[in-house]
Amino acid sequence: MCGIIGYTGFRKASDVILRGLKTLEYRGYDSAGIAVSGPKGLEIRKGAGKVAEVSESLLFSSLEGNAGIGHTRWATHGKVCNENAHPHANCSKSIALVHNGVIENYLSIKEALSAEGHKFESETDSEVVAHLIEENMKNMPIERAFQESIKALKGSYAIVMAARGENRIFAARKNSPLIAGIGKGEFILASDITAALPYTKKIVPVDEERIVIASEKEIAFYDYSGKEANPNYMEVDWTAETAEKGGFPHFMLKEIYEQKLALPESLAADVKDANALIEKAKNIHIIACGTSYHAGLVLSILLEKQTGKFAKAFIASEYPFIANPEKGTLALAISQSGETADTMQAARFAKAAGAKLLALTNVVGSSLSRLADSTVYLNAGPEVSVAATKTFSSQLALAYRLAYGSEPWAKEIPRAVEKALAQEQSVKSLSSRFKDANDVFFIGRGLSYPIAMEGALKLKELSYIHAEAYPGGELKHGPLSLIQPGTLVVALAPSDESLPKMHGNIKEVKARGAFVIALTDNPEITKEVDFALHVEKSRPELYPFAMLPLLQMLAYYASTSRGIDPDRPRNLAKSVTVE
Ligand code: AGP
Repeated sequence: MCGIIGYTGFRKASDVILRGLKTLEYRGYDSAGIAVSGPKGLEIRKGAGKVAEVSESLLFSSLEGNAGIGHTRWATHGKVCNENAHPHANCSKSIALVHNGVIENYLSIKEALSAEGHKFESETDSEVVAHLIEENMKNMPIERAFQESIKALKGSYAIVMAARGENRIFAARKNSPLIAGIGKGEFILASDITAALPYTKKIVPVDEERIVIASEKEIAFYDYSGKEANPNYMEVDWTAETAEKGGFPHFMLKEIYEQKLALPESLAADVKDANALIEKAKNIHIIACGTSYHAGLVLSILLEKQTGKFAKAFIASEYPFIANPEKGTLALAISQSGETADTMQAARFAKAAGAKLLALTNVVGSSLSRLADSTVYLNAGPEVSVAATKTFSSQLALAYRLAYGSEPWAKEIPRAVEKALAQEQSVKSLSSRFKDANDVFFIGRGLSYPIAMEGALKLKELSYIHAEAYPGGELKHGPLSLIQPGTLVVALAPSDESLPKMHGNIKEVKARGAFVIALTDNPEITKEVDFALHVEKSRPELYPFAMLPLLQMLAYYASTSRGIDPDRPRNLAKSVTVE
């Protein structure tokens, strides 16, 4: 949902900003832009396209100066075009700003400013902020004009601004992520930690409703009344290398492989406080979106079985319409980024009803972790690819920790993943089948059903093939009519209690001519289906981990075989900070 960055310090700002934009590109990649305040004044360059393309054609690196801002866009207001790309400037082009979020009252501000003679060049909500600051600067110095203008905005925003003749950069944050990287003689303001990692590990997650002013010498944080506020400093242990591709063609493949390293870290998480909250809870509402929702489904099954308490997973955007949290409810929010707007609003809704909030997230200092009564971190390291892979298996690992405690067999989880990864070539050989596919059905039962849902989501988001997941038993209630000769069916058939019934479902679709790919350790099914991906025989709890990497790699190779960049699927962004 747009990546923003600002830099001030002793380095060439354009170098830092360009590098940061490449790291933040997972947040949006339809347009990019930069503004640098330097010897030639305030120079702005921007256009539609990916960061590397726009930067190459507009020579971002040729900009001289030590303070500047940058943006990589995921369009919300206004189509993808050069004019709507950020940074946006005021009429006199003396200030430029980048914005992530949605300004809800931009139309009324725009009308008022138009009446004062302001001319707008874009259709965006963001541009009005630059003009509003310009209007206020008629009567007050820049820092106050910035503060007064920010106070007038409704909606969500992380904003960073640069100005002609200034080495200072100005920022504000409300309901959109913003961190400050604290270096020696340099400061970075950015949508996430990864953009600051090459320069510093000292981070301040900027609090809600804060103004930040940084020069090369100092950084200060203020509340909206102008009173200086104390920041919360933290040291992160992520390295810049973990946020880079490390020899893999895509972040997604690298992150699929990183699962074997991330899982032991996740399994070692401290869940004492979380368990105490679960123990005290009358009922448990799990709230999450997309892939995290699938982890939530697994957690709900396990918690209900292990604790006997009512535990239900809700799609976060639906939660306020359908749920009745109360005092005694434990709202358990799962979010890789900890910034997803739908999850945040569901979490606020539950808290307002008196529920306690437990967060499962990967990002230290994220908005969700700050709202929560207690947080368990995934410890999966930064995940850059838009598709969640290693953070999903880490969420599953935490689900197991919460439900089962420290069972000795949990140590086998990373090995189950490693065994699956060894089948990369076998999965790759299947990609020609998906190259021209239109529909794929995923079936599974019990714990395998949420994993099948995740397989279908990965395939559709990365390869643009229509994919649906069904519990095996549901096929005969309607979807079976869609099965024709050659239809692709991916069947999750491990040797757990669901096997006999899944075997029946496989026969049903085979009888109607489906091309069946089974994920199985059963020799009979292996013989009967068109293609079998071997799943290591294990105790039932380990099967989700043994099957997941196969589905992730299937989606990866389906995507690349269709000429798609799996790290940057169309219309999507990693961190969805609009509702
Ligand atoms: C995963 O591949 C997706 N890109 C998406 O469904 C994601 O899981 C969802 O947007 C939730 O994100 P979160 O975990 O950061 O809250």
